[in-house]
Amino acid sequence: MTDASTQSAPDARLAPTAPGSEWWRSAVIYQIYPRSFADASGDGIGDLAGIAARLPAIADLGVDAVWLSPFYRSPQKDAGYDVADYTDVDPLFGTLDDFDRMLAEAHALGLRVIVDLVPNHSSDQHAWFQEALAAGPGSEARERYIFRDGKGESGELPPNNWQSVFGGPAWTRVPDGQWYLHLFDTSQPDFDWNHPAVGDMFVDVLRFWLDRGVDGFRVDVAHGNAKAEGLPDVDVELVAAGSMDSPFFGQEHVHEIYRRWHDVLAAYDGDRVLCAEAWVTPLEKMARFVRPDEMHQAFNFVYLETPWDAKLLHEVIDDSISAFGAVGAPPTWVLSNHDTIRHRTRLALVPPPIHGAGIGPTSRSKADPTVSLRRGRAATALMLALPGGAYVYQGEELGLPEVTAIEPHERQDPTFARTGGELWGRDGCRVPIPWESAAPAYGFSETGQTWLPQPPLWGELARDRQEHDPDSTLAMYRRALHLRRELGLGTGTLEWLDVGPTALAFRNGSITVVANLGHDAVDVPRGEILLASSPLDSASLSADEVVWVRTS
Ligand code: NOJ
Repeated sequence: MTDASTQSAPDARLAPTAPGSEWWRSAVIYQIYPRSFADASGDGIGDLAGIAARLPAIADLGVDAVWLSPFYRSPQKDAGYDVADYTDVDPLFGTLDDFDRMLAEAHALGLRVIVDLVPNHSSDQHAWFQEALAAGPGSEARERYIFRDGKGESGELPPNNWQSVFGGPAWTRVPDGQWYLHLFDTSQPDFDWNHPAVGDMFVDVLRFWLDRGVDGFRVDVAHGNAKAEGLPDVDVELVAAGSMDSPFFGQEHVHEIYRRWHDVLAAYDGDRVLCAEAWVTPLEKMARFVRPDEMHQAFNFVYLETPWDAKLLHEVIDDSISAFGAVGAPPTWVLSNHDTIRHRTRLALVPPPIHGAGIGPTSRSKADPTVSLRRGRAATALMLALPGGAYVYQGEELGLPEVTAIEPHERQDPTFARTGGELWGRDGCRVPIPWESAAPAYGFSETGQTWLPQPPLWGELARDRQEHDPDSTLAMYRRALHLRRELGLGTGTLEWLDVGPTALAFRNGSITVVANLGHDAVDVPRGEILLASSPLDSASLSADEVVWVRTS
């Protein structure tokens, strides 16, 4: 361990917070997708040294913490969510020393750091999986993963009918005839969490990163670790209709795992946090992940998936506040991440996209660029006024749209290949982000290399082009984030006001927020306008605009 790992919190903003008002209850956390953030080595893939160098720009935005998607040793079959070694940095991203330097730099800037933990599956290159393959059927090494004999006369059929989230069967047969389960890519075998060694290994992993000084973990597929006894077939239609529990997602005994992790984190100082990536519905089921003795936050994906509609948003905001409130947890709002179509594009797509399919150059769904930018900014201004925590995804502060112009041979997401191109996948939200309009790779990488192609539009949207423009998306994010902190909106309470069926209005502390989701103009309340999601050109609010007004 290096010096950086043992230092105490260097900044007053990182001081421990009191129970009930822990920092994560109201924090805004900025997601860094390391491959696409900043590339210091020039190989076209972002890295930890690149992140460290650009952190001041992120601190300046006014966020409280950063979450880094995986940078661990990995063959990168699923962009690092296929981990071969949970306690080492992949050479693509640097070294453990680079990690320590990045962490120290973040802490010095008053930013907390959350890392990504992937406990549902490892890479097939993980030492345990290689051992399991070599050890053969019946061995203890196979019990740490989910190996089964197949069905059919000679075991030629998979053990059940489960399908991979990325397309195709969730089982792959190995040369000795057994099959192993992978809810995602073939290269991502699922662990068997019934084996005690698996739980023990992850506690060691948690401690490894906690000892280095991280402030918490975002937990990948947190709803997937526990599978139903006997691995029964699934009826996807019944699951979708809510009349059957999924045998692999949201099983009740998954919660035991997080109670243990809760205790591991609680033994450390500084209010460390666990955030669940749990795609379960309804909200009450999601909120179970954040009961007082489990995790602390759960991404509110029900909110993320809600269309730009006043009635639906009103409902989901109410339901979220009450479902999370019932277990004493804050709601955790989110609009974009590395798995979903960027909200700047998504909320304006006509017709609405099919969930999880992504969009590409020939998709029927199209978004008008002007409408989509206004709407994307309005959605953010609405979200950042809500009480609770929130996540923002790198590049949304620049108003980046989803990139559709990526050729089939350039696409990297396994979803695209596994579905024979039927689903476009997630590459469109993962394109390396632009920093300087006139630099090679728009400042992402000095050599000009990028692992996915950047569109010419990145020149206009580059951070340096927006830096001094008071009307830019960057300026709006910065202003909203600073005001949110100054006015304590994250710890506030929401009180609805009636403004008709196609608009939303609420008070949070001293401000009134009005959002126009319809076509008719809406009055702006009297008071000092603190924030407008787009420059206001009249005394009333046009479609797809949000204002924050100081009314008391
Ligand atoms: C969720 C992650 O966010 C996604 O990127 C990944 O492909 C799957 N989990 C599998 O780890």
